[in-house]
Amino acid sequence: MTHARQHLTQVVAHRGASEDAPEHTLAAYRKAIEDGADALECDVRLTADGHLVCVHDRRVNRTSNGRGAVSALELSDLAALDFGSWKSRDAFGGPRVEEPDWEHRPEDREDTSVLTLERLLGLVSDAGRRVELAIETKHPTRWAGQVEERLLLLLKRYGLDAPASPGDSPVRVMSFSARSLHRVRAAAPTVPTVYLTQFVSPRLRDGRLPPGVRIAGPSLRIVRSHPAYIERLKQSGHQVHVWTVNEPADVDLCVRLGVDAIITNRPRAVLDQLGR
Ligand code: G3P
Ligand code: CA
Repeated sequence: MTHARQHLTQVVAHRGASEDAPEHTLAAYRKAIEDGADALECDVRLTADGHLVCVHDRRVNRTSNGRGAVSALELSDLAALDFGSWKSRDAFGGPRVEEPDWEHRPEDREDTSVLTLERLLGLVSDAGRRVELAIETKHPTRWAGQVEERLLLLLKRYGLDAPASPGDSPVRVMSFSARSLHRVRAAAPTVPTVYLTQFVSPRLRDGRLPPGVRIAGPSLRIVRSHPAYIERLKQSGHQVHVWTVNEPADVDLCVRLGVDAIITNRPRAVLDQLGR
């Protein structure tokens, strides 16, 4: 008797286990690894002095007790801030449910300090099991290649810039910018790239991606409203990684459609739902 090979859906912790811990902090990524996440998602931005840090917004105002654009601050400025106590605020800028407790910063300052990509790479390499990393370049076009250059230098330092094949790579690079992905592929052809899309486009409708990109990263909104596009992408041989999937019904939808990776703020809950 033959058994169809079960499709394994990867569970990716979006900004770490960001439902439980402040996004993009060491605490959130440690929790995601403990939770059993297959991969960690992080956004990266360049500081004024050229360090890649894991911060989603252009400014630090929402997720720290500081103010200003990441690109205008040096790493030492960011290191003085508390990126942990804001957690009570809705992750997408919604209403606060309680005041951040800036006065009572946890004892372990590293847990709530700004996280550099280098530190996150270190965490992953010390995880004791394979934990993949999905790194999103945020608004890279304004830096004319510097984000990708810096990123590739770091990957090289960790021996991650030249996997034998994309399937072997524990790291992938994601972006809404096709140009950013092109730069990565030009320098590191076997590092997989993921083209993120928030809205439906003719390209997506036809199951196509930018040249050389093998993985589609559509928003959950696209998946809900146009499941046929997802099927088309899969039929065209692409992998599909969907963000941000937190509700059980949406997890079911993704599994039904054969989605390859579910990017979620609650990795443990999704793993439980998948029976893992
Ligand atoms: O994983 C992709 C997703 O994170 C893109 O949206 O705004 O959460 O970075 P955003
Ligand atoms: Ca992101």
